[in-house]
Amino acid sequence: MHELEIKVPASQPGSYKVAIGTGLLPSLWPQIKAAFGHRRPFVITDANVAAAGHLDALLGSRPAPQFVIDPPGEGSKNIATAVAIVEAMEKAYLGRDTLVVALGGGTVGDMAGFAAAIFKRGVPVVQIPTTTLAQGDSAIGGKTGVDSSVSKNAFGAFWHPAAVYIDVAAVQTLDERQYRSGLVESVKHAMIADADYFEFIEQQMDALLARRTDVLETLARFNCTIKGRVVEADPDEQNQRRMLNYGHTIGHAVESASNYQLLHGEAIAIGIIAAGYIEIEMGLSEPGRLERVTALLERLGVPTKMPADLDNRQLIDLLKHDKKAVDRWPRFILLDRLGHIHCPHGQYATDVDRTIVEQVLNSITGNR
Ligand SMILES: NC(=O)c1ccc[n+]([C@@H]2O[C@H](COP(=O)([O-])OP(=O)(O)OC[C@H]3O[C@@H](n4cnc5c(N)ncnc54)[C@H](O)[C@@H]3O)[C@@H](O)[C@H]2O)c1
Ligand SMILES: [Zn+2]
Repeated sequence: MHELEIKVPASQPGSYKVAIGTGLLPSLWPQIKAAFGHRRPFVITDANVAAAGHLDALLGSRPAPQFVIDPPGEGSKNIATAVAIVEAMEKAYLGRDTLVVALGGGTVGDMAGFAAAIFKRGVPVVQIPTTTLAQGDSAIGGKTGVDSSVSKNAFGAFWHPAAVYIDVAAVQTLDERQYRSGLVESVKHAMIADADYFEFIEQQMDALLARRTDVLETLARFNCTIKGRVVEADPDEQNQRRMLNYGHTIGHAVESASNYQLLHGEAIAIGIIAAGYIEIEMGLSEPGRLERVTALLERLGVPTKMPADLDNRQLIDLLKHDKKAVDRWPRFILLDRLGHIHCPHGQYATDVDRTIVEQVLNSITGNR
């Protein structure tokens, strides 16, 4: 088992441990009890994760108060579920000594983290991610929240976990599309921070698609190191943390315009390609970079073209409503080389003319 330590924020003494290993789940409960012994655990998971056997693997025959989100997925990531979770904790007579244990993908982690942040003015949460997306991205970093009927993560809080346990064996039961889509965030981490990591993914793609646990462990170490470093430096997203949004400005618009028919990672893959074209237009791309990135995403089996049925005018409109838009136009995170963000005058987001974005959207529209 490997352990990393993430200091949040770096200027203060607080930190949390990220444990990475294969087959950790069955021996985790005693470890959690030992680390947080005085606290009373409340487990939050979802029906698919439970059906896949991970709740039983964690608890064995031990009884523990729990909430199983059903139906699983984004449709349940709303304030009504958060209320139901908080009320379930109250009905279990839990108080400020609660430890929330989140076992599941990003939707479970976001909801459980949010419930922990608001329950009795905040109790600690332990994250046990079970999807490639959650292990590579959402379980680290402390962003929690639920959606409103208008937008994603409208209710939210920064609530850093008390510990993260990554058992890479848990993703063996994930369906193929979710598995591949979740890995796009790992490609993103490599692109923004570490060209050697990008090369590692290229070289290990077959093993990765075969879900080889040694490769998944190495991937988890790269992801947590990169995201941990960025989050330590800028825990509440003043500047540097924005680099984690690489591919996400257009990606989020694509995700939303597809009515969530595209999975998050799939939409981000398209956003990454769009960013690559913008980089070429802005003179920021070295020859062959976009081809290399496209080839990697194609091997991963995620879309690299805009679905033909998406309306580019709707995408532009969504970009104008981007959370981070200033004067109704977002700024973009761009690379100036593989593994390195374009960061003029210390600013991680760059102005890109609307005509360039329109041109790029037109040029990447095609059949999936
Ligand atoms: N907090 C953050 O920083 C952050 C970052 C990125 C994404 N997110 C959020 O994460 C969510 C997406 O996360 P996700 O892709 O993990 O989705 P998810 O939690 O919905 O999981 C995807 C599907 O896989 C199932 N599942 C989970 N683990 C499984 C397993 N081991 N075996 C079998 N099935 C399993 C789930 O029940 C669900 O049906 C979105 O809501 C997104 O906004 C948050
Ligand atoms: Zn993302």
